[in-house]
Amino acid sequence: MAGSSFGRIFRITTWGESHGPALGCVIDGCPAGIELSESDIQPYLDRRKPGNAAVATARKESDTAEILSGVFEGKTTGTPISVMIRNSDQHSNDYDDLKDIYRPGHADMTYDAKYGFRDHRGGGRSSGRETAARVIAGAVAAKVLKQLGITVEAYTRAIGPVEADLSEYSRSAVLANATAMPDVTANARALEYIADMKNKSDSCGGVMECIIKGVPAGVGDPVFDKLDALLAQAVMSIGAVKAVEIGDGTLAAASVGSKNNDQFKAGSKGRISKKSNHAGGILGGISDSSDIIVRASVKPTPSISRAQKTVNSSGENTEIEIHGRHDPVIVPRAVVVLESMCAVTVLDSLMYGATSRIDNLVGIYNK
Ligand SMILES: Cc1cc2nc3c(=O)[nH]c(=O)nc-3n(C[C@H](O)[C@H](O)[C@H](O)COP(=O)(O)O)c2cc1C
Repeated sequence: MAGSSFGRIFRITTWGESHGPALGCVIDGCPAGIELSESDIQPYLDRRKPGNAAVATARKESDTAEILSGVFEGKTTGTPISVMIRNSDQHSNDYDDLKDIYRPGHADMTYDAKYGFRDHRGGGRSSGRETAARVIAGAVAAKVLKQLGITVEAYTRAIGPVEADLSEYSRSAVLANATAMPDVTANARALEYIADMKNKSDSCGGVMECIIKGVPAGVGDPVFDKLDALLAQAVMSIGAVKAVEIGDGTLAAASVGSKNNDQFKAGSKGRISKKSNHAGGILGGISDSSDIIVRASVKPTPSISRAQKTVNSSGENTEIEIHGRHDPVIVPRAVVVLESMCAVTVLDSLMYGATSRIDNLVGIYNK
């Protein structure tokens, strides 16, 4: 299957299916000499794994990371880092009745149209479980970025009609709240909304946002490899993400130039800063040193337990009721996936851009 790799220098490949024996990630191009152990990766996996029954599937996976290669005596060696997670709580029989039926909102119909054959257990590669492997790469990328003074933090901005109050932002609330919202009041209201959706055998979507701080001006490439274009690809590739915005995003369309332009001001040591950040930290595909702001809209969980009309693989009309174990809302578990894909993309762009100036090369090779 093509399409399982992302990145040009810090290049990640995810592998494995939802109901196979294991899944994992291979990271090629990670610099040598970084202290790395499973304990750097596990907190990221723990944030993604189903925890709170009110907002997540009842599938219980320990999601324990095992580093198989690329680390020696606690440090990265510069060779491919391979990390595996064993699947343990698959319940593959839950999917027996769905073998020949296409679940609305899922990739069953389109995978069959493309390959003529598919692993129907939990959606195989198209399952949200694949994103556990991305989170491994995100943990490693974030660790490298930290050494460069760059932080990547994502949170839930909205669930259904409930919006977080960003003036009450608290990182500890993001990490503690079941919805990954940054304020406790919105968290409580969102939990009520999710419970209501569950009672109605329905699901809901929402919006998540990521803020990347500390990226210097000049990261990103022109034309096809613009930093915003790569971020959009990285984030849109997360299952259930239906729209990606940078900065003001779609609101810019209704703005006017005099408001939307971020006026420059001279800072210390010849640095240039901006009076506002409608652009979301990227101009012409290249970082401008302001915070990079990435937002993603996530659709409602496609698996719902109420009856829906569909078609089977013989082309006959039928009905489907999905019982198995599903997230009533995907957003809280996808927040760390957004964070991970942003970290991978920014690190890859930083590394790729290291050759853009002769002084960088002289700095490396002509000491
Ligand atoms: C972290 C995460 C968890 C997910 N959990 C579920 C789930 O429990 N049930 C479900 O129907 N879809 C879930 N999805 C979404 C489906 O994988 C996705 O909607 C489906 O494969 C169709 O792909 P598309 O929405 O990108 O078109 C999840 C996605 C992510 C990123």
